[in-house]
Amino acid sequence: MFLTDKNIIVLNEVDSTNNYAKQLIADKAGEGTVVLAHYQNSGKGQQGNFWESEAGKNLLFSLILYPGFLDAAKQFYISKAVSLALVQVVKKEISDVHIKWPNDIYVGNKKIGGILIENTIKGSKLDSAIIGIGLNLNQENFISGAPNPVSLKQLTGKEYNAKEVLKDFLIRFNDLMGELQNGFFETIEKNYLAGLFRYNEWSLFRKDGKEFTARIAGIGEFGQLQLEKRSGDVEAFLFKEVEFVI
Ligand code: BTN
Repeated sequence: MFLTDKNIIVLNEVDSTNNYAKQLIADKAGEGTVVLAHYQNSGKGQQGNFWESEAGKNLLFSLILYPGFLDAAKQFYISKAVSLALVQVVKKEISDVHIKWPNDIYVGNKKIGGILIENTIKGSKLDSAIIGIGLNLNQENFISGAPNPVSLKQLTGKEYNAKEVLKDFLIRFNDLMGELQNGFFETIEKNYLAGLFRYNEWSLFRKDGKEFTARIAGIGEFGQLQLEKRSGDVEAFLFKEVEFVI
């Protein structure tokens, strides 16, 4: 896999870059094709949420991959690699950057970036992957206020160029995907854990409306959150089964 910034489709407005990328895959677009938009009128977030982004302010893109080398059971590694590359990008500007499980990018207690990955599977392997990323760069007012958004400009006072940030991301992500392609999972595993928001810290979680104290003990093979309770019991949770109380 060799990702460059040479294959970028720039759109002024689109419903969602992920949707556009899905159509491109149907039209047999090449690996590494990037759809970059100034504005999405139906930007998709996790769990069917709307992804808010003011026109022309932030980085909004989807990257097409065909990671056929990866077992479907290992698909969470793509998510880990994307999160790590984004953390590296943001860390150039701000130090307190973490991955809020499974793949939100946080600065302190605020969300600066979100990831929506849509995979297809063929047999036991991954077939295609759409890596959708929204990174708040220059937006200064957020209407929805949820989920506690922040932008780089709000933190540093500087203006950022979306294409430059995208280029930086692609270089870093390309390296991390190279590690996965060569079967080196351990460094990514280790760095993902080390980058986790509130790893090993007693924190408040919520499940089915009930709050409880626990600490993140690890991440399971399929990306499950392993929480250690005060009793010492460790329980694994799938995405959407549990949330942080921040
Ligand atoms: C989240 O809820 O945290 C995930 C947000 C993902 C947003 C990005 S913006 C570019 C791409 N296109 C979409 O419609 N969503 C993703």
